[in-house]
Amino acid sequence: MAIFIDTGNITEIRKYLKMGVLRGVTTNPTILLKDGLTGGIAEIKKRTLEIAKMIHPYPLSIEVTTNDKDLMLAQACQLAKWADNIVVKITIHGPDGELHNLEVIHDLENMHGIRVNVTAMMSAQQCFLAAMAGATYVSLFCGRVNNMGYNSLDEVRKLRKLLDQFNLKSKIIAASTREVLNVIEWLEAGAHIVTVTPKLIEGMLVHPYTKETVRMFLQDALKSENMAEKAAVAPELEEISSAGARKIDSLSVRF
Ligand code: E4P
Repeated sequence: MAIFIDTGNITEIRKYLKMGVLRGVTTNPTILLKDGLTGGIAEIKKRTLEIAKMIHPYPLSIEVTTNDKDLMLAQACQLAKWADNIVVKITIHGPDGELHNLEVIHDLENMHGIRVNVTAMMSAQQCFLAAMAGATYVSLFCGRVNNMGYNSLDEVRKLRKLLDQFNLKSKIIAASTREVLNVIEWLEAGAHIVTVTPKLIEGMLVHPYTKETVRMFLQDALKSENMAEKAAVAPELEEISSAGARKIDSLSVRF
C-alpha cells in the first residue's frame, strides 16, 4: 500500500498516479477547502466522483461533514454509494469528546459493510480502540503528535505491535506529514501507509545532487556527439587534400 496522496487537487493526483507511485487518496474538509472547493456536499460529490473514477480501484477517503450521530450514519451510507472505492472518514470522537462516533464506526463496518477510515487520532490507544471497533484504516496524525512534543515513531511502533498481536485487520495510515523524512521513518516504524502532501512527494523525488549529476550526463552526451560530428568531417577533408596533392603530382610529371 505504502503511499497515499493527501489532497483533493485533481492535477496533483493525476500527475503522481501516472508515475505509478500512489495507492490511494485521502481528503478532509480542510484540505478540500484549501484546494478551492466550496459549495457544500454537491461540490464534494462532483470532486469525489472525479477522483474516485480516476484512481479506481485504489481507495479514496472522504470525510463526513457532521458529528450528529444519525446524520453521520446517514451521510456515511450516502457517501459510500457514490463509488465502490470510497472509504468514509469519521473522527474518533466529536469536538466535545462525544463518544457516539465509535458506535457509528462499528455499525458502518459491521452492519452496513462500509469501509471506515477513523481519523484525527493522536495516540496508539485511540487507534487501538478504533481497530477493535472494526475500522479498515486508523489514521494516526503523526505530524501533530510530534508537534505536541511526543514521539510519533513510538506510537506507530506500539500500535503496529498491538494490531499484529491481536490479529486486527486495521491498516495504519500515518498522517499529517510535515517533513520528507517522515515518510520513510513512519513506514519503517510499522505504518502500512503514509499519506503525503503533493509538495512532500516532490521533495522525496527531486534531489539537488541528482540534478547536478543528470546535467553532467547530458552535457557529456552532447560533447561526445559534437566530437563524433567533427570526426565524421575530418576524413572528408583528408580526402580532398590528398586528391589535390595527386593532381599537383601529375602536373609536375608533365612538366
Ligand atoms: C489525513 O488523512 C489528514 O487528511 C491529514 O494528513 C491531516 O493533516 P494536517 O495535520 O496537516 O491537518
